[in-house]
Amino acid sequence: MISESSVESFIDDEWYEKIVSFYNEKNILLSPFKKAYIKRRLYLRAIALNYHNIEDYYRYLKKSAEEYKIFEKILTINVSYFFRNWDTFSTIKEKVLPDIFKKKEQKGEKYIKILSIGCASGEEPYSLAIILKEYFPEEIKTFKPYILGIDFDSDSITFGRIGIFDEQRLIFTPDFLLKKYFVKIDNKRYEIKEEIKKMVILTQEDVFRKDLKKYWDIVLCRNMLIYIDIKTQEALLKKVYSICLNGSYLILGKSESLWGGLRNLFFPVFPKERIYVKKECL
Ligand SMILES: C[S@@+](CC[C@H](N)C(=O)[O-])C[C@H]1O[C@@H](n2cnc3c(N)ncnc32)[C@H](O)[C@@H]1O
Repeated sequence: MISESSVESFIDDEWYEKIVSFYNEKNILLSPFKKAYIKRRLYLRAIALNYHNIEDYYRYLKKSAEEYKIFEKILTINVSYFFRNWDTFSTIKEKVLPDIFKKKEQKGEKYIKILSIGCASGEEPYSLAIILKEYFPEEIKTFKPYILGIDFDSDSITFGRIGIFDEQRLIFTPDFLLKKYFVKIDNKRYEIKEEIKKMVILTQEDVFRKDLKKYWDIVLCRNMLIYIDIKTQEALLKKVYSICLNGSYLILGKSESLWGGLRNLFFPVFPKERIYVKKECL
């Protein structure tokens, strides 16, 4: 267990500011991340490379283009899994999607639109595409799915578009879905089938910079808030509110929740699964 005091004595605020400015100069904003989180990551990385003071690590960071990229990646840990938290996907299948399709039918709409923010390599949007294909084959003939995944890490998006995943990413995938929608290509890797791949668009974007249209039925923003500071979380969730249709769903990660005034924006319909519905008016 790393103590806060060892992190603090390793990197004080002055060094922290120096490193944030260094990234700023290169147009990478570290400010959305919590200060304590960045410091802890710097500490762990420097120690792992055998640097015992921040000054030496900073010197290395400045001269090594590779390390600069690696540290940026460490900050955004883009680990994801297909069907991460199966109970959430099960509630989406049993409750959320039937409700959305019912409303679409009443309104005579033709599309179902799903946005996954911080989608890593697409594990989350692909999982939803599989759910739609497997359990709602008739509905998706009438209501065409438009599923968009955005992530600011370009390598993750490139991997996701290729669609070959290490078995580790599939540990929560039920066996029958694995057999049906993936092809085993070697000992450790599976390729997602084209019929699923073509249902999902993955793009490299920073959610804070991307102009998003107001037409989403489901917005997933899972396991990303935990890395960003309170002010940035608030800005992001307000943005999500502004792009959701009335009555649409917001889905957060299992260890994330809404706090303070943000609770006025979304109502927790399935609190255990962190599934919220947009409140119609404030
Ligand atoms: C831990 S992963 C979560 C992946 C997936 N949502 C899940 O729950 O399994 C967080 C992702 O958020 C992405 N991310 C962080 N800040 C972002 C931003 N400003 N815009 C887009 N993606 C961002 C990271 O690159 C990373 O891939």
